[in-house]
Amino acid sequence: MEKSKVLVVGGTGFIGRRLIAASLAQGHPTFILMRPEIGLDVDKLQTLLSFKAKGARLVEASLDDHAGLVAAVKQVDVVVSALSGTHIRSQHKLVEAIKEAGNVKRFLPSEFGTDPSRMGHALEPGRAIFNEKMELRRAIEAASIPHTYISANCFAAYFCPNLAQIGTLLPPKDKVRVYGDGNVKVIFVDEDDAATYTIKSLDDPRTLNKTIYLRPPENILSQNDLIAKWEKLSGNVLEKIFIPVDEFLSSMKDMDFGGQIVMGHFYHFFYEGCLSNFDIGEDGAEATLLWPDVAYTRMDDYMKRYL
Ligand SMILES: NC(=O)c1ccc[n+]([C@@H]2O[C@H](COP(=O)([O-])OP(=O)(O)OC[C@H]3O[C@@H](n4cnc5c(N)ncnc54)[C@H](OP(=O)(O)O)[C@@H]3O)[C@@H](O)[C@H]2O)c1
Repeated sequence: MEKSKVLVVGGTGFIGRRLIAASLAQGHPTFILMRPEIGLDVDKLQTLLSFKAKGARLVEASLDDHAGLVAAVKQVDVVVSALSGTHIRSQHKLVEAIKEAGNVKRFLPSEFGTDPSRMGHALEPGRAIFNEKMELRRAIEAASIPHTYISANCFAAYFCPNLAQIGTLLPPKDKVRVYGDGNVKVIFVDEDDAATYTIKSLDDPRTLNKTIYLRPPENILSQNDLIAKWEKLSGNVLEKIFIPVDEFLSSMKDMDFGGQIVMGHFYHFFYEGCLSNFDIGEDGAEATLLWPDVAYTRMDDYMKRYL
């Protein structure tokens, strides 16, 4: 079967770059939206040019230029958005363009995290982002746009080598803060694997109008599991400081807006267990079962890079 043509929007971002690489690697004709607003951002331009050199096509259009967006969308079969969490609402312009173009066989909005449909109870201010993702889902579904939602759980780079410590991406050297008893199961995914599974989903009829959950079985780990893996790898035993839930939640009050969003996410992942405390129903499917051929990265291997 001929591979669908893919347009990646938000291609210079953390997950966007990986989606482009995966799309090229899996043989999709790959197009990238190049926004004129990048202006003098030389790194973004160089990133785009490096993908062009690998065979991607750059399509120039602003998200504020409806006609330009429609023309961009008309060149492809599939649109994958990787816009940042602070620009979720901008994707309504993409929905309008896809609606008018009328040719898109699949749209993947920028999700790549916790399933927002299960987060109606989330703590503010973080809940606003889940709400925005849900509003976008409603617009996609109201326009009858074929879609797939990717629930990627925790990107390893943000949550794994730092042993889930807030405010650092590096492993702790002597002390580690442990949430509750540290036994709640969390799901970690190498972001390159997240991109691989996402691109695998594009032409797969089993993923049409479904949520695809990335749950690599060996990466469903508690914070204690993660700490034990790092201690074994590094040979360094860490002092554990257990943080009761009340203490964690009350410390949120003194944080700024961004800090409260981060703390809210950590609360839901590491105390509540929101990533692992439900079964995937008929509206969803699990990626490692759909594509068992993908050799996903285990967190021990991921963390070796930080030794
Ligand atoms: N599972 C996890 O652990 C996890 C972690 C982080 C994020 N996420 C989710 O992953 C998705 C992508 O996040 P990310 O961290 O990859 O994003 P990011 O790197 O912060 O940004 C992605 C892209 O958004 C575009 N963008 C930035 N400012 C913009 C503006 N003013 N107008 C329009 N577009 C703009 C840019 O693309 P161009 O300049 O190339 O157009 C940028 O490269 C989000 O839905 C986020 O919630 C999940």
